[in-house]
Amino acid sequence: MPGTIIITGGNQGLGFGAAKALRRLDPKAQLVLACRDETRGREAAARLRGKGPAPISLPLDLASLASVRAFAAGFADQKLPPLRALVCNAGLQVIAKPELSRDGFELTFAVNHLAHFLLANLMLPHIEPGGRIVFVSSGTHDPARKTPLPAPRWTTAEALAQIADDGESFGKAGRRAYAMSKLCNVFCVHEFARRLEAHKLPVTVLAFDPGLMPGSGLARQYALPARLLWNSVFLLLPYFTSAASSMDRSGRHLAKLAVDPAWNGVSGRYFEARGKNKLIDAPSSDLSYDAEKARELWRASVALAGMTPDEAVLGT
Ligand SMILES: NC(=O)c1ccc[n+]([C@@H]2O[C@H](COP(=O)([O-])OP(=O)(O)OC[C@H]3O[C@@H](n4cnc5c(N)ncnc54)[C@H](OP(=O)(O)O)[C@@H]3O)[C@@H](O)[C@H]2O)c1
Repeated sequence: MPGTIIITGGNQGLGFGAAKALRRLDPKAQLVLACRDETRGREAAARLRGKGPAPISLPLDLASLASVRAFAAGFADQKLPPLRALVCNAGLQVIAKPELSRDGFELTFAVNHLAHFLLANLMLPHIEPGGRIVFVSSGTHDPARKTPLPAPRWTTAEALAQIADDGESFGKAGRRAYAMSKLCNVFCVHEFARRLEAHKLPVTVLAFDPGLMPGSGLARQYALPARLLWNSVFLLLPYFTSAASSMDRSGRHLAKLAVDPAWNGVSGRYFEARGKNKLIDAPSSDLSYDAEKARELWRASVALAGMTPDEAVLGT
């Protein structure tokens, strides 16, 4: 039976790479690109060729919790086939100047974590048995992986929701906020997995690190020289290091994580794209296994997103 697959930020970068791969992997699926810019979303949907139902784009601005709620309500009205997978892919790095979401939260935390947390909770009742939620995280969440970004510094979720004020330059604080948001994604996967099991809901939730993907829009706030490198010389990195990948290659892995039956029932796992074709089931950072911190993040996120008991189907 055909199902629906939602990809947040599916109009470009990794999300578009995954959408292209899903057209081949699950041609009967109804793809929904959840995009903040309606024109970009529509154009991307039109570029996706293949047999089966034509992909559509629905508006979703993750910088606004009201937009997340409107998306979830609108999805129900569309009468699409049951939801097979929700791919929480959209993300950004805010490093040029401090920015807040519509709800007054630090923008990186708000988009990369809080809005996806709310979305995953609201969409859960629509997910068919055996369905998936995949959160796109990043190796930057783990100091042991020695990425160029500053290591996450965990305090409280409430503190993360504010713009940091500890004397660090904003560029560095912004990159650290990004790494923290990616740690939040892994905490979320672990806590979702525990709660889904406790509620006996047959939905699989996974985390994915796509590797370094030069050329994507993620570096759009970096200085011009860094952007020039990112969009040219760095594109060769996948030929020299297994830690780098392309948007199409990692998109193929992400598509498999969303629909391949091989990953049924392995909730809570973290997968890394490595080398030409490897998808490795790897441990996430030591800190990400701290169940008390994951619970704290869950409770704080429910409160920050103003979720009602009806919205928090897995508990507050
Ligand atoms: N590139 C890397 O090296 C790398 C490495 C590890 C993990 N990742 C992760 O991979 C994911 C995809 O990133 P990417 O590299 O493909 O970057 P990208 O090309 O910039 O794509 C990001 C997508 O997120 C969307 N987005 C940003 N803010 C949004 C908002 N407020 N509401 C809705 N959508 C929003 C963008 O929409 P617009 O087109 O409208 O801006 C775009 O579609 C992110 O979660 C990122 O953290 C990337």
